[in-house]
Amino acid sequence: MKAQQVKEAADFIRQRALGEPAVGIVLGSGLGALAETVENPVRIPYAEIPHFPVSSVAGHAGVMHLGRLGGQAVAVMQGRIHHYEGFSGNELVFPVRVLHELGIGYLVLSNSAGGINPAFEPGDLMVVTDHINFMGFNPLLGVDSGFGPRFPDLSAVYPAELRRIARATADRQGVSLREGVYLAVSGPSYETPAEIRLFRQWGADAVGMSTVPEAIAAAQLGLPVLCISCITNKAAGLQEQPLSHQEVLDISTAVSQNFIQLLLEIVECLP
Ligand code: HPA
Repeated sequence: MKAQQVKEAADFIRQRALGEPAVGIVLGSGLGALAETVENPVRIPYAEIPHFPVSSVAGHAGVMHLGRLGGQAVAVMQGRIHHYEGFSGNELVFPVRVLHELGIGYLVLSNSAGGINPAFEPGDLMVVTDHINFMGFNPLLGVDSGFGPRFPDLSAVYPAELRRIARATADRQGVSLREGVYLAVSGPSYETPAEIRLFRQWGADAVGMSTVPEAIAAAQLGLPVLCISCITNKAAGLQEQPLSHQEVLDISTAVSQNFIQLLLEIVECLP
């Protein structure tokens, strides 16, 4: 993917919405309601933005909202694309590169995830401390497109300072906030119980099908990432009933008020 395409997408957005966003926010499955709280929004469907990939998954609206949230200028992506829809690594990271081109200083990612840590319950929120890329590819594969170092360091993708802000905010609100390692798979099938037992041994606390490509691209761009996962279910083998996307959407929608409150105040506290 060419830097020129990123620039064209960003230029298009700039023509529609004046002012530089300070924070980019990507909303995961069932967490889209936060976008409705953006003040004075300019709303742009992804399909109208040049080169912008469009998701086909239920729960992913595919609209960018530019406006103000928690006193900050924000660009909120309501819905994201996934590898399991057939998108390449390059396509997956395109939106993050566009947000960076627009001028954001922080990237806030969110997702729905299955809880691997046996202490986690459906409805818990978790701040991601680190990740394991088990998707089977790296989004930076291919010719060097010049977006940053060829071999980016990933030792602090989710800086402790941002996690501390999330923790302090959750404490103030009296909301319980778990923390842990997010492991990404490609999906779209959920995992087997044997895979989940293995992932637990590897040190994973939650499993999902997104986020890691975006976080890697952000690290290459030098963008600090804060990621909040909504634990929508116990991972395969840890709960009686079979996993379903409807369950994921139902639980994430049910906790979205807590999630919105937490994110709003975190965004307010970003320096
Ligand atoms: N596995 C993978 N992705 C998920 C899950 C899960 O259990 N729950 C929500 N997204």
